Amino acid sequence: MAELRVALGSVLSGRIRVPGDKSISHRALLVGALARGTTRVHGLLDAGDTESTAACLRALGVTVSSLNRDPVRVEGRGLGGLSAPAVILDAGNSGTTMRLLAGILAAHDFSTTLTGDDSLQRRPMDRVAEPLRRMGAEVSGRGPRCQPPIRLRGGRLSAIEHRSPVASAQVKSAVLLAGLHAAGETRVIEPAPSRDHTERMLRAFGADIQTEGPVVRVRGGAQLTATEIRVPGDISAAAFLLVAAAITPGARVTVENVGLNPTRTGALDVLAAMGAVVEVSPAADTGEPTGAVTVEHRSLRGVSIGGSDIPRLLDELPALSIAASVAEGATEIRDAAELRVKESDRLAAIARELSRLGAAVEERPDGLRIAGGARLRGGVCESGGDHRMAMALAVAGLAAAAGVSVRGAECINTSFPGFVDALRSLGAEVEIEAGGADAG
Ligand code: S3P
Repeated sequence: MAELRVALGSVLSGRIRVPGDKSISHRALLVGALARGTTRVHGLLDAGDTESTAACLRALGVTVSSLNRDPVRVEGRGLGGLSAPAVILDAGNSGTTMRLLAGILAAHDFSTTLTGDDSLQRRPMDRVAEPLRRMGAEVSGRGPRCQPPIRLRGGRLSAIEHRSPVASAQVKSAVLLAGLHAAGETRVIEPAPSRDHTERMLRAFGADIQTEGPVVRVRGGAQLTATEIRVPGDISAAAFLLVAAAITPGARVTVENVGLNPTRTGALDVLAAMGAVVEVSPAADTGEPTGAVTVEHRSLRGVSIGGSDIPRLLDELPALSIAASVAEGATEIRDAAELRVKESDRLAAIARELSRLGAAVEERPDGLRIAGGARLRGGVCESGGDHRMAMALAVAGLAAAAGVSVRGAECINTSFPGFVDALRSLGAEVEIEAGGADAG
C-alpha cells in the first residue's frame, strides 16, 4: 500500500492544469460507442475509472484506442449495436460506469453481468434498476438495494416518466441513455438539478433532447452521429488544489482550462463565502463552459451548506471539510446523506479521519458539524480505498503541525494520476513511500 506524506509549511503558488473531467470522459466514451462513425476525444481522463469504462466497451465489441494517446478514438456501433460480451463486465471502482452502462445495456437483447470492486459491490443499484425494469429490462442484484454483481437482460424498451427521489446524474443518465433506444419520449424529473453533462453530450451527437426546469426529455430512435469532443480539466480534481491554496498562508494558485459547468461549481461559491479570494476567467465554451480559476489564501470563516447546493459540490465535500476544519467558526453541512453511498461512506470517513488529525467533527445522519478553529495536529490516517478521501487528507497535511500521512493512497489513480506531481509543482513537500502501486 502506498503511503503519502504531506508536510506543513509550504507556500503554494503557480499555474497548473488538471486531468480531463471524469464525468465528461465517461460520457464521451459511452455516447461515442452508440454513435455512427468515429468519435475523437481530446483531453480524455486516462485513469482507473475511465479505463474501466473503456474495458467494458471493448468487451461489448467497441474499438476504443489506448487512453494514453490524444485524441482517443471510439469506433461507434450505432444505437443498439453492442455485441453480447463473453465475459463478466468489471466496472472497477466506478459507479458512473456501472449505472450508465446499465441504461445502455437495458436496450440490448442479451444478458450481461456487471460487477465491481469491494467498494462498488456495496453501492445501491436499485435506483437505476427500478426505472429500467419499468422500461422493460430485467435487472437483478444482491439484496433489497440490488447491489452488484447485477444481472441484466435487455430488450425492447418503452418510454417512461421517471421522478427520481434523489438528485443523481447517474440515475438521470441511465434513464436518458435507455430512453434513446425506446419508442416515444422519456422524461426524467429531479428534486434538484444534478450535473447535466449527459444532456450536453447527447446534444453534441445530435440527439433530440430538451431541458425545461427540472424536466429533461429525450425522444428515442434517432441515430447519433460521431463528433469531436474536447474534455475540459476536472473541477473536482482542481478542487483539491484550490482548497490547498485557500488553507495555506501566502498561497495563490491558478488552475487553467478547467470545466466551469454551473452544475459543478458549488465549491467555488463556498470557498468565496468562506472568505478566500476566488477569481474566475471564462474562456470559449465548446459545449461545456471552461476557464481559469484562481484561489488566494485569506483567513477562512465557517459556513452553512445544504439544500440544492449539495448536488453542485457533492464530490468536493471531502476537500471543503478540510477548509472548514481550519476556518474560524463552525461549518454545518446538511442534506448530504448521498455521501454515505459514494466510494466510501464519506460522512463517516470525514468525521473519523478528521477527528484523528485533531479537528472537532460531529457526524449527523445527513451531514456534519465541523467546529472549526482547529490547529490540526496531523498524524496518520486511512484513505479507506476512496480516492477523494485520500486527496482531501493529503491536503490537510499542508495545515497540520506534524503533517499528514495517508495510508492506502494508490486509490488516487482512480481519478487523478499526477496528483502528487501537481502538489509538488505548486511547492508542497510530498513524499511517497510505495509499498506497492505508484500513488501518482
Ligand atoms: C457522477 C455523478 C455524481 C458524482 C459522481 C459522478 C456522474 O453521482 O458523485 O462522482 O458522472 O454522473 P450522483 O449524481 O449519482 O450522485
